[in-house]
Amino acid sequence: MNDSAFDIVVLGAGPGGYVAAIRAAQLGFKTACIDEHKQLGGTCLRVGCIPSKSLLESSHLYAQTVHDLAAHGIEVGKVRLDLAAMMKRKDDIVGTLTGGIDMLFKRANITPVRGRGRIEGPGKVVVAGEGGQTTLAAKHIIIATGSVPSSLPGIEMDGHLIGDSTTALSYSSVPNSLVVIGGGYIGLELGSVWNRLGSEVTVLEALDRILPGIDDEIGRLAHRVFEKQGIKFRVKSWVESVKVEKGKCVVRCKGAEPHTVDRVLMATGRRANTAKIGLETVGIEPDKFGKISVDRRFKTQAESIYAIGDCIDGPMLAHKASEEGVACVEGIAGQHVHLNYDAIPAVVYTHPEIASVGKTEEQLKAAGIDYRKGMCPYGASGRARALGDIDGRVKMLADAKTDRILGVHIIGARAGDIIAEAAVAMEFGASSEDIARCCHAHPTLAEILHEAALAVDKRAIHT
Ligand code: FAD
Ligand code: NAI
Repeated sequence: MNDSAFDIVVLGAGPGGYVAAIRAAQLGFKTACIDEHKQLGGTCLRVGCIPSKSLLESSHLYAQTVHDLAAHGIEVGKVRLDLAAMMKRKDDIVGTLTGGIDMLFKRANITPVRGRGRIEGPGKVVVAGEGGQTTLAAKHIIIATGSVPSSLPGIEMDGHLIGDSTTALSYSSVPNSLVVIGGGYIGLELGSVWNRLGSEVTVLEALDRILPGIDDEIGRLAHRVFEKQGIKFRVKSWVESVKVEKGKCVVRCKGAEPHTVDRVLMATGRRANTAKIGLETVGIEPDKFGKISVDRRFKTQAESIYAIGDCIDGPMLAHKASEEGVACVEGIAGQHVHLNYDAIPAVVYTHPEIASVGKTEEQLKAAGIDYRKGMCPYGASGRARALGDIDGRVKMLADAKTDRILGVHIIGARAGDIIAEAAVAMEFGASSEDIARCCHAHPTLAEILHEAALAVDKRAIHT
């Protein structure tokens, strides 16, 4: 075997690909990981999870300073926003974390290959990089090429006034007015950032509700809470075209007056990034959305070629991609492959946060599953009152016969942290009684989950 022959070549260094590469190296495989970007970490680290959470934290702190400190008896002078410093902080965090992956690769003896990779027949990947072309021979190839923002016919993004999430993570000034197309994850997270910093934000959503896929009751509560924060929502608004006219964006929806605004953020979903990576050379046919189909061990139609993360089916989430990366490599090593898709949590990092794991009430009803429901409002929690965050609730759904937890849905402060307990409980097949019998520290927000578990059996103490 020479320097360019590997046991495993991973195409893409996002949270799917880089984690797969590290696990592969731990298991003794000679591993290379290819990415077209200088900064490793994929969408998640460069232009997704991390920069968006950095801006969410900064803008939340800014909004709290402006609106909430007086209630705590803290007086501040005139508050001034330094957007350039906020953006620099975000870029520094991204720089530190992406640089951290280079170090992890070095320590694990993984070969990073910069450039655009393309499969050219079984066991062969050709990378076009700055220094020319490199050919890698691979016993196994893992495709982890992720996803890219989807576009809509009639809308041409100029990457400036009309842009996607990457553009909205780096605006150089706060737009006076912003239309967000799509009331999903990105629409609400980045809509919240710019609303907090002073933009007049209008979210146009094609469906009759925001956050499709989230439990309906929680979604309706979210709509109300975000409206109170000043975000305007226009549901049943199918955007047909966006044009720049005299330096402004004119957004036209079916059957409605046009909106004229400073900037437009397209957040209408993402599509698998599988074009031009040579799938046809190994007989892999992606579906009409570009997704690659795999079996339970992440094997594609082609021998010794696997796929993980956003480019296969399932929720487009970083932790799902990473778990698939680990499971895929362990499968290649002949180990047992385990990933419970019913226990993958999802979090929208707005304020309040929205978090869920397992089935929604609508899904249980549609499947004809008899369930019991326990609910606890944040207002019943001493900790939530001390935080000044009483808008929210925890809802637990358990099987009516066996009491096994089927779903937990939360809207409220730090919901993303509370959901971890629910995900672990579900992974272990716990019942609501199991959670109800566990001692929870007081005063913590985790007690709200405990109280919701008690409420399943109608024996809540504080509600
Ligand atoms: P990606 O992260 O997309 O990585 C794929 C990598 O492969 C990229 O670097 C790409 O450039 C590279 N690549 C593709 N093709 C080639 C090729 N031919 N040659 C070389 N390199 C190639 N998820 C969460 O769980 N939590 C969050 O808070 C969250 N926030 C998000 C916020 C935003 C604004 C966005 C856009 C997404 C967010 N996501 C979040 C989703 C998350 O980023 C993705 O689910 C995750 O990054 C998918 O990981 P992946 O490894 O499958 O692909
Ligand atoms: P999304 O799928 O969450 O939401 C897209 C929304 O756009 C939907 O509500 C859809 O009905 C609407 N829409 C589609 N076409 C439209 C049109 N023509 N007019 C008006 N509305 C239209 O997609 P989003 O927000 O772009 O995010 C992509 C993915 O990235 C998410 O699904 C999620 O998997 C991931 N993500 C995860 C985050 C997290 O975990 N916190 C944060 C950000 C993104």
